[in-house]
Amino acid sequence: MKKVRGASRASTTPEEIASAASTGAASAKAAKAAKAASAKAAPAKAAPAKAAPAKAAKAAPPKPRAPKPRAKRGLAVAARGAEATAHANIAVAKYWGKSDVALNLPAVPSISLTLDGLVTKTRVRFDESLKADQIMLDGRVATDKEAARVVELLDRVRAAAGMLLRAEVVSENRFPTAAGLASSASGFAALAGAAVAAAGLSWSEAQLSALARWSSASAGRSIFGGWAKLPAGKPGQATLAAKPLFGPDHWDVRLVVAETVKGPKKVGSTEGMERSRRTSPIYEAWVAGAPALTRRIERALAKRDLDGLGAAMEQSTYAFHACAMSASPSILYWQPGTLAALRTVETLREKGTSAWATMDAGPHVKVLCHAADAPKVRRALGATEGVTKTMIARPGAGLVVR
Ligand code: DP6
Repeated sequence: MKKVRGASRASTTPEEIASAASTGAASAKAAKAAKAASAKAAPAKAAPAKAAPAKAAKAAPPKPRAPKPRAKRGLAVAARGAEATAHANIAVAKYWGKSDVALNLPAVPSISLTLDGLVTKTRVRFDESLKADQIMLDGRVATDKEAARVVELLDRVRAAAGMLLRAEVVSENRFPTAAGLASSASGFAALAGAAVAAAGLSWSEAQLSALARWSSASAGRSIFGGWAKLPAGKPGQATLAAKPLFGPDHWDVRLVVAETVKGPKKVGSTEGMERSRRTSPIYEAWVAGAPALTRRIERALAKRDLDGLGAAMEQSTYAFHACAMSASPSILYWQPGTLAALRTVETLREKGTSAWATMDAGPHVKVLCHAADAPKVRRALGATEGVTKTMIARPGAGLVVR
């Protein structure tokens, strides 16, 4: 990530951040975030920021511009903005369950493929004329719940940068209608990239991943293009970040998405995995078995062994859905079209096509196959009862900050 208008601002002490935050508009929340960020995560301090990550650094060269520091409550601040793009990802080794709810640490390791064509573009601008954060999502004002998660991330960035400026956030999702994929991973990855750059911080990809992961664990993986792994977190491990495994060109595979009719109510992944952890009698078995499954998936990925990866991916998928189904009250994400699409995938395999299914916290089916087989897989899914739309996604790039 390139620096934005001059200096990196990592020199403020934790005490200064906390005290500045407590006297300013951000009040107790920012002070708390300041303490948490500096004492626990403080990505800018815990690990020295390395040179700008390659991808972001390749963006337009920095304009030769003098920094414009302004004094505010003893801290130098500057109004500035940045824009970032990030893509959605699909987990092939699934994350389900947290080992530390406050720090949003996953209880199991996960591996994902970042997807092209499913992109979130986010602009963040810190501005001293703003009295409160202003958040626009897809052309509308964010709901209170959405805004709270965005402000939480902004507070962590403000705390690390030692500044109090409110921000304007404008985020747009470019997801085809048949995406059937959540935008929270790309959304928080793009927000992390734009907010950190707009605050004038120069963070490594690992630091950005830790920040995005704190808001939504799958977002930590979307910092990287191609294949990424997010290890399980130990309680208190605030700097946990995803790491890149292979780039988008490692393997010419496709993800065919079959969107099915949505059910009347949806339990979000955060709530679904917490309910599973608290009430499912098989949750512990899932957590105990996930590392071995993830190792199998990682080995198959390295060898480009689709059948090896696919079989373990299906097992990982069914195991976490079993946790959700056996929670109390139980959570059934599937619809009739889900089961019909899974049957289609089995039939394709019986006829010799290597196609393997996964689902997230919803009714849509996502099928991994070789690039050459994608049109055939898409046709078969498109002809399946209960499947309303289909699309093909290819491996995509990681976070880009401008
Ligand atoms: C089923 O990353 O959305 O898609 O960390 O609570 O925001 P939070 O959860 P989130 O969960 C994704 C769960 C999943 C599997 C996966 O992507 O690994």
